[in-house]
Amino acid sequence: MISSETIERIREALPLVDYIARDVVLKKAGSIHKGLCPFHNERTPSFVVYANDNRYHCFGCGKNGDIFNYVEERNHLSFMEAVRLLAEAAGIALEEGDARENAEAAEARRMTELNERALHHFRHALKELPAGRKALDYLLARGITQESIDAFKLGYALPQWAALASQLIKEHYEAESLYTLGLARPDKDGKGAHDYFHDRVMFPIHDERGRLVAFGGRVIDEGEPKYLNSPESPVFKKRAVLYGLPFARKAIGKNDLAIIAEGYMDVIGLHQAGITYAIAPLGTALTRDHFKKIARLTRRLIFLFDGDAAGRKAAFAAARPAIELNFSVRVVLLDAKVDAFDLSRTLPRQELEEFVRRGIPLTDFILNCLYQESDSGEKALGFLDRVYAWLADMQEEVLVSLFLQKAALLCNANPEELEIDFRKKRKQGGHRPAQDAAKKNLPDSPPVTKFRLEKTGTDADFEIYLLRLVGLHPAAWPALQSEFAQGLRIENSEARFMLDALASLAESAPAWTEEAFQAAMPTEALQKLVAGDIAAGKFSVDWEKQLRDTLDTLWAQAVRRERRMLDEEMRRQKLTGDEDMLQELQNRILALRRREDALKHTARRQK
Ligand code: UTP
Ligand code: MN
Repeated sequence: MISSETIERIREALPLVDYIARDVVLKKAGSIHKGLCPFHNERTPSFVVYANDNRYHCFGCGKNGDIFNYVEERNHLSFMEAVRLLAEAAGIALEEGDARENAEAAEARRMTELNERALHHFRHALKELPAGRKALDYLLARGITQESIDAFKLGYALPQWAALASQLIKEHYEAESLYTLGLARPDKDGKGAHDYFHDRVMFPIHDERGRLVAFGGRVIDEGEPKYLNSPESPVFKKRAVLYGLPFARKAIGKNDLAIIAEGYMDVIGLHQAGITYAIAPLGTALTRDHFKKIARLTRRLIFLFDGDAAGRKAAFAAARPAIELNFSVRVVLLDAKVDAFDLSRTLPRQELEEFVRRGIPLTDFILNCLYQESDSGEKALGFLDRVYAWLADMQEEVLVSLFLQKAALLCNANPEELEIDFRKKRKQGGHRPAQDAAKKNLPDSPPVTKFRLEKTGTDADFEIYLLRLVGLHPAAWPALQSEFAQGLRIENSEARFMLDALASLAESAPAWTEEAFQAAMPTEALQKLVAGDIAAGKFSVDWEKQLRDTLDTLWAQAVRRERRMLDEEMRRQKLTGDEDMLQELQNRILALRRREDALKHTARRQK
């Protein structure tokens, strides 16, 4: 956990105006700077940066905040990640967590730097050495351009027993580190080291932050295994890495769409053809970890897989985590014997783009799979059993209904009857002993006590209060999300760390336990606070009302803040007389008044 002093130091070290000026052309007018909003499309500038406050505010789309909000929004990062990035930019060391965490970070940096050194060696071999010529010829012959070779930093591992290892050890790198990264292995006698990759085209693999974490090596022409990947290491968790992500990041954001292909060559081919929002897992199934990484950039996906059984299976397996994490997916299965790389080499860009966007919705794909797998004899029955089984632990009732309606269509059943039948069977089969037991421990009717907000005062207290409450009531999480979507903002840095923790908890376990929440707290102080809440049974009674009251208080504070800002801006604009901007401001002030009225109204009703 990082202290608020550090947060302040970062803020001071990086004047917001200068920072934003990297992305946006800003024009100075008094103490404010104005430009085109980076968060929405506009032709006249309504994005304002206040140099004195180090805050920004867009009067068009309403986005506002400080430098951390800016980076979170702009780079799709969590608060913690934004802090790390900005600390680095400011040259401020983070007193992050304990010493162990710092040591781990330093170790990771050392590891990725060693990988970079190895990459340099592979690149040199491909580009400069006569021995690398055949690898280069192989790539060019397959239609990979010189630009792609450079963009994806492809290299070549020499055939010698220890070309890389001997070189790096000569440069005083430790053999042990090479083993950890899987770049080399110890000889049988333990005296020397030999390379892991021999005579292969090398594909460097970067994580989502652009750190070089591993390599994939392909044999030239034929051979087994076709691809050899670096083994897992402290910096490489294969099941969470997507090939091409740092290169595709921007285009994914811009298109609000990502293509997930099957492999290295697919990604490079698609990028080369101008489709730069393509990524791929590393020959493994797609996991929740993968999807979480993508979720920060887009919720719209195209699965572009080979049409063979393996491709089909991969798409089917990836469907559940994708659906559970609210992705909207289309599936394109290619013809047998053709993969995305071949396609990217044959179709012109426009056609390629049209082709991939024509995929079928994931729901239809799933139903098709379930249908085709059915026993040939009793087709309808087998199919419905499978559909029911597939839907058994689906949480989203809307999706359940959608599936059942489509299923009904496929087997000529009455959709309403099908829904009734499914829900009846699910109820019969779906006993959850754990939940039933938990229910027994609850009192029949909770003692009614009147809730009063603890008026300790500051905004930060209310924010933390709110998160404590939601932490003990996972059911309130979606409601909180929708408040955020409407523009509610957590301002205090301690509370923002807490929110980060809560968000990752919600991603990994939507119905987290009290203990998990306590354990996830970023500081000891917060852990103690939460432990106290749990012990005292705080928020166990009437919590929904407490939630509403706290939200109202926070909204009232937010509205007051925005109001001050708008009034100020209005005064300034009247002096400069920018008509469009004045109109925008009028609109926002009106919207704000309605919000204020609504808040007053609920406050009166509650009295
Ligand atoms: P493919 O066999 O489709 O390879 O495997 P590819 O990417 O199309 O490459 P080319 O066109 O044959 O050269 C898809 C992905 O599965 C993983 C790799 O990540 C590969 O890109 N894979 C495949 C392995 O890890 N090991 C293997 O032996 C084969
Ligand atoms: Mn392939």
